[in-house]
Parts: sequence; structure tokens; C-alpha cells
Amino acid sequence: MRIGVLTGGGDAPGLNAAIRAVVLRASSLGHEVLGIADGWAGLLGEAEPRPLRPRDAARILAEGGTILGTSRTDPRKDERSRRAVLDSIRRWHLDGLVAIGGNDTLGVAQWLHQEGVRVVGVPKTVDNDLSETDYCIGFDTAVTVVSDALDRLRTTASAHHRVVVVEAMGRDTGWVAAYGGLAGGADLILIPEIPVTSEEIVRTMKHRRAIGDPDILVVVSEAVEIDGLEAQTAIDRDAFGHVRLDQRAIGAVLARHIEQHTGIEARQVVLGHLQRGGSPTAVDRLRATRFGNAAADLVDSGRSGVLPVLRGGRIEVASLSDAVRQVRRLADEIIELVRRYAGVVT
Ligand code: F6P
Repeated sequence: MRIGVLTGGGDAPGLNAAIRAVVLRASSLGHEVLGIADGWAGLLGEAEPRPLRPRDAARILAEGGTILGTSRTDPRKDERSRRAVLDSIRRWHLDGLVAIGGNDTLGVAQWLHQEGVRVVGVPKTVDNDLSETDYCIGFDTAVTVVSDALDRLRTTASAHHRVVVVEAMGRDTGWVAAYGGLAGGADLILIPEIPVTSEEIVRTMKHRRAIGDPDILVVVSEAVEIDGLEAQTAIDRDAFGHVRLDQRAIGAVLARHIEQHTGIEARQVVLGHLQRGGSPTAVDRLRATRFGNAAADLVDSGRSGVLPVLRGGRIEVASLSDAVRQVRRLADEIIELVRRYAGVVT
């Protein structure tokens, strides 16, 4: 078989580890692998695919980013694009396709499956919010970045007796903020799953100061709505219609509000794309390898419209349609931990 592989949507640490596993496993089964550039944009015919041999992929395990490039491109948007993608698949004689991505990329993969293309997904998003799987590639590295940042910010916040507000990624859910904040010992974690008011936040800051906390670290997930506080208006949207959450600047708005209403000096740090950059952790390397390996096996065995997932520590198989149906909610146990260890005072 000739198998195409692409990475779509936001990049995530571990993408190269997954590409490597797809190439090594598929090649060992006697298949040829073609790397498609820049996600679905590549299938619109904007760049020629390139052969990926084992030696091209052998040394990329620890590299961040994606050797294939990525983009947020929705080829379903008009008839011309839909036809261009199907034409490329025919022209390049692709017998199968491995699409590594999150909700958006795998939504397109599901459409292609319905069009009769043999396509297998691989779950990737630092947001960790794909359904059907306990894990998505990139999450552990993003969490580690948040936790490491909190360790560093603790010392400077402590030296200056300040509040530091740290803005973490998460389009719809608080996975990164909650895990990163708990791992880094944040004093207050604000996630979309727990409604909060600006008054409660101010009261919590004052309470912490009153009980003698010299420094206070707040982690705020970028999509959080705070009752009584207006974030900036996000103006731009991406190709899938998602608002640019960075433009809300919720961390900056919150830090200013805290300073104005408590008198405690406050600063803010947006971790942004630092959470997606750099070398993947060992957990991400290993899970990406397991997913990529399983995806190659699935294509080899003629499966389509599916993706390997992690459940209870084991690799299983789920359907693409179930994986993208809705975002996966943060686990109740973690929401409860956030309330107990980093919630507002009531
Ligand atoms: O979906 C992953 C994600 O990292 C979100 O957490 C974030 O809101 C968004 O992508 C940022 O996207 P971009 O790289 O296009 O700025």
C-alpha cells in the first residue's frame, strides 16, 4: 500500500514521534509512506508529498513541532476544495491515509472516510479533549510546561510578595490549567468547568493575604468566563470558526482587576505557544509511538474511520465519529481536586 501521513491543526509535542512510528511500522509491513505537507492544505495540492523512508524518520523522536508542517485548513468549505482533496488522493495513488490531529482535523478525516477513502486517525491535542480516549498527544508536555513555569514564578512572586496570574491553553476545557496548576501547586485555578465571580476571586486574594501568604499564583484557563469581569473582545476566527482566545487576554484583565481591587501588586504571564513548543516528554514520546504504531497496523488490516485510543492504560480502537462528536469533559475527580486545593474561599 501507499499510505499518506499528515499532521493538522495546532502542533503538539510528540507529533514527530507519531510520524516516526507510522513510518517505521508501515515500512516494516512492506508499505510505502508519503508525507503530506501542512495538513489538509497539502491535499489541496499546494505542495507535492514526499516519500518518508525509515531513515528519514529514524531520528525525529525527540524533536518538537512536525517535520511535515501543519495548518488549520478545512477542505470541506466548498465544492472546489472537496474535489481537490479527493483528486490529490487519486493522483498520488494513496491507498490509505493517517491523519494525526484533534477535533477539527479528525472531523475532516471522518468526512473523507464517508467519501470512501481509507483513513485512520491519531489523537493529538494539548487540550486533551477528544472523546473516546484518556489521552491525546502533547498533553503531558503542555502540563509540564505549566508546572515548571509555576515553580519559577513562585520564587519571583515570593520575592516581591506579588500575585502572578498565569494564562494556560484550553479552547473548551480546563485540562491543561487543572493538571498543570495542581502539579505546580497553584493557589487558585480557574477553569471553565467551575463557575466563578470576580468578587469571589478578590475575596480569595484578600483572604490569602490575611492568613499570611506572601505570594499567590493564579492559573487561568484562556476560555474562562468570570462573572463580573469583561475579557477583551476576540476579533479573529480561525478556518474552523473558533475565536482567537489569546485575544481575550483574560490573564491580563484579571491581573489588573486583582491589583485594582486588592491593592496587591499583580503581574501576568501568558504561557501561550510555549506549551506547544519544544521536545516532548518521555510520556508523550512513548504514547505517540504506541498510537502511531497502532495506526499503521489499523491501515494495514484494512480498517477505516477509526483511531487508536488509550483506555485504562491499554491501546484500543474507537470510531472517528464518536471521537469528534463532543469535547471530552475534564474528569469529575480532577474538578473536585481543583475545588479543594485551589478553589475560591466561600
Ligand atoms: O487547540 C489547541 C490550541 O492550542 C488551543 O488550546 C488554543 O486556543 C489554540 O490551539 C491556539 O491556536 P493557534 O496556534 O492557532 O494560535
